[in-house]
Amino acid sequence: MSANHHHLRANSLLPALLFFLLFMGCSTTASPPSLSTSFPFPPPPAAPQNTTLEYMDPTLPPLIPTVNPKCSTVVLREDFADTLGFPPASVDYAPPADCPAPWSRVILELSATASDVQMDRIAAIWVDGAEILRTSTPLPMAPGVFWHVRKDVTRYTAVLRSATTFSMMLENSNATLPGVYSVNVSLHFYRGALSDDAGRSPSLKLPTNAHANGQLGSGRLSAHPTIKGLYREPADLIIPISNELGDCGPGSWFKIRNESDVQLTTVLIPNNTYRAVLEIYVSHHGDDEYWYANPLRTNGPRGGLTSPSSKANGGFRQVVVTIDKRFAGAVVPFPVIYPGSINPFFWAPVAALGAYDHPSYDLDLTPFVGKLLDGPEHHFGLTVRDSQPYWLVSANLHLWLDAWSDGVEGALVRYKVPPLKLSRQAAWRDLDGKSSIDGQVIIRFSGWVSSSKGNITTSVKQRLKFKSRVEVHRQGSIKQASMEVKSRTNVRTEKNHKVIGRVQVETEAPLMMETMSSNGGGGSVFEKTKMYHKLQETTSVAVGKEVAYSTMTDRQDSEGSALMEDRVAKWGSGDTESTYKYRDDKACHLRTVIMVGGTVRDDAETASCVSVLDS
Ligand SMILES: *[C@@H]1O[C@H](CO)[C@@H](O)[C@H](O)[C@H]1NC(C)=O
Ligand SMILES: *[C@@H]1O[C@H](CO)[C@@H](O)[C@H](O)[C@H]1NC(C)=O
Ligand SMILES: *[C@@H]1O[C@H](CO)[C@@H](O)[C@H](O)[C@H]1NC(C)=O
Ligand SMILES: *[C@@H]1O[C@H](CO)[C@@H](O)[C@H](O)[C@H]1NC(C)=O
Ligand SMILES: *[C@@H]1O[C@H](CO)[C@@H](O)[C@H](O)[C@H]1NC(C)=O
Ligand SMILES: *[C@@H]1O[C@H](CO)[C@@H](O)[C@H](O)[C@H]1NC(C)=O
Repeated sequence: MSANHHHLRANSLLPALLFFLLFMGCSTTASPPSLSTSFPFPPPPAAPQNTTLEYMDPTLPPLIPTVNPKCSTVVLREDFADTLGFPPASVDYAPPADCPAPWSRVILELSATASDVQMDRIAAIWVDGAEILRTSTPLPMAPGVFWHVRKDVTRYTAVLRSATTFSMMLENSNATLPGVYSVNVSLHFYRGALSDDAGRSPSLKLPTNAHANGQLGSGRLSAHPTIKGLYREPADLIIPISNELGDCGPGSWFKIRNESDVQLTTVLIPNNTYRAVLEIYVSHHGDDEYWYANPLRTNGPRGGLTSPSSKANGGFRQVVVTIDKRFAGAVVPFPVIYPGSINPFFWAPVAALGAYDHPSYDLDLTPFVGKLLDGPEHHFGLTVRDSQPYWLVSANLHLWLDAWSDGVEGALVRYKVPPLKLSRQAAWRDLDGKSSIDGQVIIRFSGWVSSSKGNITTSVKQRLKFKSRVEVHRQGSIKQASMEVKSRTNVRTEKNHKVIGRVQVETEAPLMMETMSSNGGGGSVFEKTKMYHKLQETTSVAVGKEVAYSTMTDRQDSEGSALMEDRVAKWGSGDTESTYKYRDDKACHLRTVIMVGGTVRDDAETASCVSVLDS
């Protein structure tokens, strides 16, 4: 890829990046420290930039309906100017009277603009306290940046059909940088068949008024397909495990500062619950913004990309769920890279994987249903292992209820939770050295639940393999970090000793990055960075004789540089190649976006599987 450097058009980005270094409120922040030595890089030429104002996440799920929605409503319209430390913006909500539940699909659409330069911010949307979207804003480097996020939110039908409040939090400050974020959130409700006969056009047909401001352009989608849901039918009830009265206001996330900071929620489940899935939303901030590149060392300089105040405690983090203080499941989060992280020029205008629609994580808690039914209330705990300040975590407990029963019984019959053994190695000499963390564990739970559906035993097996490497060479001028998470979850249901259903979800998330720093002159540091990031998810669901299979692969390769002065990027450049591939038994879809120096060179989509051989 070419290294086409250019000055930032808006000089005003400089304070933006400086501002970045101050960790504030619930915002996303970045702090890349740099160690400099002389290194022979030619000084890059300055070139003017033709700023692309539409930012995008190059995904495209073909699962989105090709028919018009039955009805659409704008639920929230808000300008986020000076909202730091305030509770979320809340509005009254009522399900649409003209197209009541059940819906064959519900799509959330967020359209947003940034009036001027601003930091990237973290944001989320809740419906009666249940989180339905975690998202980052872009890092607007010029006035007028706009973007769209579309997400399939059908799984939240239980709250969408009964909720009374809809809220969004986007903590922004226009004190230092002028940018104000203006957001419109709409819901599109579908009933009946989801595709017409006009073939499998992957574009979403939105109501004509959605195009009114001309910003929808191609009508492209920017959401991951919901292939992760272990069950196809939405839950009957969703109990939010979120912060109702915390420092970030009602119906919002928990702020977790370290692993002894366990956020507890008291939960009472209906006595006719027969299935339970906990969905976790999480994002990392402050000292843990670069947790995935965090070295392991007991003393001396930090290395990696960590902030000056963070501990060198290694690149492993795990969100842990407890029920009545007992371990009930855990996930290693996918390291979402924020629009201001590593090199902001990589992510303008193409977002990093999942940045505009952070993945959520499902844990099947059905084996624990018997336990949850035995007693009035239970305490759900959330924490992040090895964490540093701070993480924003919330969860939704999805419950399926037996309408034909006044009470269901069950019991946990197998609970095998060996401790996750991490092997940690580190060897450092002054600035240079390397460290690694490896871990692997298999967890098994099994329990029966007897309801009008019969006496069904659910067995969950979760396998996790984790690897992190950090190396620093040449007196700190070359830093390499890599991480790989592989997980496989199997859920098996049995009735009368016969298997009636099987689900397997396999996830692979490798990340590799390398930064070379050299003396840029006048106290500045020139940093060249290369990175590769991928998220692959394969799901197979077998119910009786019916088997459904799908694979989603989202991958990015980026390369570029930035000149840092006092840890502020004075100028820089980035090239990113993004490929998004989705395939199931019926369809295949590939989208490739090539961005060179801030401009989209190529954006190609194909529904042909012939050229799409699995690698
Ligand atoms: C910037 O891009 C737009 C749209 O591609 C084009 O019309 C315009 O001439 C470009 N401006 C410069 C200065 O290159
Ligand atoms: C929100 O909707 C209003 C009214 O349709 C429109 O004028 C405005 O441009 C929209 N804002 C965004 C950010 O899409
Ligand atoms: C922040 O934005 C609000 C609303 O647009 C405006 O009234 C206020 O003057 C701005 N503050 C600063 C410091 O620019
Ligand atoms: C962990 O976080 C809690 C809550 O902020 C704080 O009170 C405690 O001192 C922290 N513990 C450590 C070991 O940092
Ligand atoms: C379950 O709850 C229902 C409704 O509250 C109640 O009528 C029923 O008696 C309860 N059943 C048991 C076994 O507690
Ligand atoms: C349900 O099945 C399990 C395992 O087969 C058995 O131990 C349990 O007693 C059964 N429960 C009921 C209510 O039949």
